Amino acid sequence: MKIYKTKDYNDMSRKAASIISSQVILKPNCVLGLATGSSPIGTYKNLVEWYQQGDLDFSEVTTVNLDEYKGLPRDNDQSYYYFMNEHLFSKVNINKDRTFLPDGTESDSDAACRKYNETIHSVGGVDLQLLGLGHNGHIGFNEPADTFEKETHCVTLSERTIQANTRFFASEKDVPRQAYTMGIQTIMSARRILVVVSGEDKADAVKAAFFGPVTPKVPGSILQFHQDVILVADEAALSKCSELMA
Ligand code: GLP
Repeated sequence: MKIYKTKDYNDMSRKAASIISSQVILKPNCVLGLATGSSPIGTYKNLVEWYQQGDLDFSEVTTVNLDEYKGLPRDNDQSYYYFMNEHLFSKVNINKDRTFLPDGTESDSDAACRKYNETIHSVGGVDLQLLGLGHNGHIGFNEPADTFEKETHCVTLSERTIQANTRFFASEKDVPRQAYTMGIQTIMSARRILVVVSGEDKADAVKAAFFGPVTPKVPGSILQFHQDVILVADEAALSKCSELMA
């Protein structure tokens, strides 16, 4: 595992965007696994800027996102499709037919998950997977559990995640209780994984995920078993790991 400690969120975002941009430059038809949440917003902002300056070309890139709320259509401004469109897809020259997320409007969970697994397999897997980290150590929407779920599945969100995500909604009752998410095996199948984490409120989660025991109680801890993981985190997020990194 490579760890880059950055000064702050902006620094983290620039570093993460550099890693993604090198992937796109080296393999223009790569498959990027993308994430939502506050953590990657700055990363996308940098990628958009570099595209606008003519330094990046997304025309051959395919994307698969980690997750989507069950029940939200694409045009709902809280859906993850809407988020991706707002922060990246509508601002670069990506072919929208090659941007994939689970279908939040499919009420049959088995069908939605099966279809998304097929999509991920059909694009040939993920070259570079971008991840954020939840306060409880979740990745995608893989919540703490007794076992690691393998492929795309429907999850019931934990109370902590609902609380954390309430800030994006009008009120807590508007936060969907379920979501479709890539499973742990799918995430681990990515050829390279890039994790972005910022802020002191994530310090415990970073310590548990990257330096604690590997356990489904901290889903992100499985990343310790991946052979090509890059963690880009700011000083605040790494503030409880100084001795462990020495
Ligand atoms: C959300 C998303 C995750 C994200 C995480 C952290 O619930 N499903 O993909 O990485 O929580 O979000 P944030 O970056 O806003 O802290």
